[in-house]
Amino acid sequence: MKQTAKFITFEGIEGCGKTTQAKLLIDALHQRSVSAILTREPGGTRIGDQIRKILLHSENTDMTPMAELLLYEASRAQHVRELILPNLQNGINVLCDRYGDASIAYQGAGRNIAPDIVKEANALATGGLQPDLTLLIDVTPEQGLARARARNLTFNFAVEEGRFEEEDIRFHRAVREGYLALAQSEPARFCLIDGSGDVEEVQRRIQAVVLPLFENAEQKGS
Ligand SMILES: Nc1ncnc2c1ncn2[C@@H]1O[C@H](COP(=O)(O)OP(=O)(O)OP(=O)(O)O)[C@@H](O)[C@H]1O
Ligand SMILES: [Mg+2]
Repeated sequence: MKQTAKFITFEGIEGCGKTTQAKLLIDALHQRSVSAILTREPGGTRIGDQIRKILLHSENTDMTPMAELLLYEASRAQHVRELILPNLQNGINVLCDRYGDASIAYQGAGRNIAPDIVKEANALATGGLQPDLTLLIDVTPEQGLARARARNLTFNFAVEEGRFEEEDIRFHRAVREGYLALAQSEPARFCLIDGSGDVEEVQRRIQAVVLPLFENAEQKGS
């Protein structure tokens, strides 16, 4: 089936604003009668949410890099078949908070698994499904971690989902560099978004890129 719906992913280091911005963008699309869903990785499905708990729990510091990669890929495989592809095939646009690039940046650049192995694992999990557009929200690790830590204190979810935020700053620098290298290597798919400034400012930058894609959309609903 010809797929006309768009698959748009949000990427970037911890605390750069992916979840905040993705929620604002889906609201903006719905206001314009564009049918779209918002989902996230790891998770997005019943099975994926169980895997998410294992991956992000602060107690799981003994997880090997390969076990980590394969858990992400298991979650992704379920997500693509159960949620992402069926929606795209029904003409519903999909926004996804993290996807395969996160594995290349975190398990590749961050954990030193060879990028080709991560790319191969991504291809197995996704069947080759690539986003039409990837918004890479770029902030320094200092900015991102400060935002993430303030958030975690407020909502008190550090024990449940704080494993990556506890990594040291060098890890987050490597992840950021990994993302920037990916964006350079695939300029047609990636759009680098300056994540500094307030939430509304960043959202304006994102909408300036995304809304033109839907200007002539005839999709109605949600
Ligand atoms: N532009 C901004 N300026 C100031 N604070 C922000 C901005 N964007 C997001 N925040 C705040 O920073 C925190 C982290 O944002 P958010 O949860 O959206 O980041 P994230 O990229 O989804 O992080 P994670 O990778 O941990 O899921 C939140 O408390 C959010 O309200
Ligand atoms: Mg988030």
